[in-house]
Amino acid sequence: MAYRIEPLSPLGARVEVTDPDALLASPTAPGELLHALEIHGGVLVFPRLGLDAPTQLAFARRMGDVVVKTSAGWSRAHPGVYRVALDPAANDEFFVKGSWDWHIDGATSLGIPPKASLLACRTKPSAGGDTQFVDTYAAYDRLTAEEKRRFESLKVWHRIELDAYSTPMNLSPESLARLESEPAHLHPLIWTHRDGRKSLVIGVTATQVEGLPKAEGRALLRSLVDRATEPRYVLNHVWSVGDLVIWDNRGTMHRARPFEADSGRDMYRVMLEGDEPIQ
Ligand code: SIN
Repeated sequence: MAYRIEPLSPLGARVEVTDPDALLASPTAPGELLHALEIHGGVLVFPRLGLDAPTQLAFARRMGDVVVKTSAGWSRAHPGVYRVALDPAANDEFFVKGSWDWHIDGATSLGIPPKASLLACRTKPSAGGDTQFVDTYAAYDRLTAEEKRRFESLKVWHRIELDAYSTPMNLSPESLARLESEPAHLHPLIWTHRDGRKSLVIGVTATQVEGLPKAEGRALLRSLVDRATEPRYVLNHVWSVGDLVIWDNRGTMHRARPFEADSGRDMYRVMLEGDEPIQ
């Protein structure tokens, strides 16, 4: 066995890789790791795995098709790699600081959310910049029976609304125009997955409940995020160079903690194409 898995608390697991070459070559590891994601609350942490960009891409492709885009943040040198760095040469400030609020990747930019994301630490921040995760299946499970019934038919608009973000941003007119062109998607509040499990579809892009006054809907969505992200339910990852974290983007939410542009934080993210519409 090229690796061993130890559960983390309150969710996730740590994957200690004893033989990286064997892991990367193993025909069974991709399926085993996707299964491990499911049974360990949707997050796998690989301390100091040390993959470079082409190897990270190759590893991801063994698990599924990779999302490739060319907009802000997407690497030209390594198609499929997206940079998370507070550096105008790497990404737009909005997409980096916007990830400091709880979210699901691709909830606005992609109609079908990516199945999973693989985030690798190229250079670690001198301060701040941890990444946090919560399990949105568990958040659904903790609702009361009455709430489950009441929320079952609710639909929510996901779009970028700057006043929903907790970090003030000083955006250029080009950035603002780009954000205005981001699509809006109407998703059910409760995602009933193919296997019958249910999760909440919430986060900073969930801005309006169809049919409710805007302020009332926003207050409900905020209270659901607050309940889902109580500190006792949060896995906090402090990065070291070379760490890789894989998360199930359909059953978790995540956020980065703030960091300064000169902290040196530089992360490479690869996303696996989603194959399960939110329904
Ligand atoms: C992301 O939101 O996908 C990136 C999170 C991070 O930079 O920690």
